[in-house]
Amino acid sequence: MANQKFTTGKFNRRQVLRMAGYGTLGLLASESWPIFDLSAASQNGVADKKTKFLPDLDISLVARPAEVPIFPGEPTQVWQYHATVHTGGNDRVIELPRSYLGPIIKAHRGEKVRIRFHNATPEKSIVHWHGLHVPALMDGHPRHVVSKGESYLYEFEVKNRAGTYWYHPHPHGRTGPQVYRGLAGLFLVSDEEEQSAGLPDGEYDVPLVIQDRTFDSGNQLVYMSRNRMEQMTGFLGDLIMVNGMPDFTLPVSTAAYRLRLLNGSNSRIYKLAWEDGRPLIIIGTDGGLLERPVSRRYAFLSPGERLEVWADFSDSPVGFETSILSSPFEGGGLGSSNQMGRGMMMGRGMGQNQRFPNGAGFSIFRVKVTKSEKNDRVLPEKLSTIGPVRQNATDNFSSPKDFFLTMNHMQWTINGRIFEMEDVADDEIVRLGSSEIWQFHNTGGGMMQMMNMPHPIHLHGKQFRVIERSGVRHEGYVDEGWKDTVLLMPGERIRILVDFDDYPGMFLYHCHNLEHEDMGMMRNYFVKG
Ligand code: C2O
Ligand code: CU
Repeated sequence: MANQKFTTGKFNRRQVLRMAGYGTLGLLASESWPIFDLSAASQNGVADKKTKFLPDLDISLVARPAEVPIFPGEPTQVWQYHATVHTGGNDRVIELPRSYLGPIIKAHRGEKVRIRFHNATPEKSIVHWHGLHVPALMDGHPRHVVSKGESYLYEFEVKNRAGTYWYHPHPHGRTGPQVYRGLAGLFLVSDEEEQSAGLPDGEYDVPLVIQDRTFDSGNQLVYMSRNRMEQMTGFLGDLIMVNGMPDFTLPVSTAAYRLRLLNGSNSRIYKLAWEDGRPLIIIGTDGGLLERPVSRRYAFLSPGERLEVWADFSDSPVGFETSILSSPFEGGGLGSSNQMGRGMMMGRGMGQNQRFPNGAGFSIFRVKVTKSEKNDRVLPEKLSTIGPVRQNATDNFSSPKDFFLTMNHMQWTINGRIFEMEDVADDEIVRLGSSEIWQFHNTGGGMMQMMNMPHPIHLHGKQFRVIERSGVRHEGYVDEGWKDTVLLMPGERIRILVDFDDYPGMFLYHCHNLEHEDMGMMRNYFVKG
């Protein structure tokens, strides 16, 4: 099985197991992690007896090469997640027709979910449930990668609030290319609080995954070279895809809609705004519904983040058209800098392009009113209960942890460090049951001003609250609700509050610019039981 060799670090395997709280389970003598035993067992069908885990939803999820008809002519070669439902009903897994994206998986809070992941791609891979609060062994850490033909068994209870979560691969150094080839999907969680909020549902609840891609003249995906300068910026495609489709138009009725937006791009940031100037009415963020709706002229959506938007077309006539735009913005980094861009311009296929640098303005998708009907939905005043951010109840109120996002010798780092599979530094250890303030500082590229870049920072395993931001101000942040990914523009600092209330073990935090992540702008943190 894919039992990863432990690289040298501060903890050897034995210590990690002990700290993770597995020491008392008598597993130290075992040569493999407990999960691999389960995984092997599930393959020959005896997992149920062995684990006593009775799933409400039990699916197989295969990552495999596939072909999709994106353009006329040649189909596009992609990698795709495909699901089969064993228990729980076929309506729990929704395929997007003609899309390379994986199916939308639906679960209710409190349900037990089993996912039998099988890797049928030629590369090592593992699945991360982005935003879900799951035990360390279920989180898709890169040390749990499985090779072609191998499987990994996930079993967890859905503890999250209702919200728009997602899943994607997480093998170290290859997350960017694997997501780019198509491996990603939504994971929607529902709960009673959400269901009583009175929000549009069914066909009025629309998931929209935004990504950018570059295709060659034979309709095939083009990623980027291994050129260091391109990796420093991250991949930027020249075609915007929504739910895996180019030139996307959403047909709507004269009714209210819940639009669930995910930025599933490798490194492109969107500055969302309505073309017709109406404000964005935001009802949800990464970790579910806000307490009450907020209104913004525009809102940033950086890679990994989600925003839920209330869109009411009841006053628009049939035939009315508008767009969700990405408005131009400054601070997008290297790709938005012309001097640098020109030198690198080699035409199609390069990560940087003149047409669509990060911060360029363009339409993401169109909305067209095609049908008249009676609308009976009104925007709820109260969406959910979230509660205040109690920062003086934290364990490190007077000495928050600092994380500096810096560049050293053409390498993005966190506190000067890069990812090592088993490495955890002293300041990356937290006590189970504690709650802490973490401060991230985007201090930029140092001497090289052109290397100032935005970094979307993501914590695994946890939803957190934003306490405050300082530095350059943008009104486009929606920091009001639960978050798992936050954008820091160059020069910005952010303070977040994280509760390490359960689940010991090793989790990741990293920049969700996938090329930055792949080059090592990622670290472990360890919750010590
Ligand atoms: Cu969505 Cu570690 O990532
Ligand atoms: Cu970054």
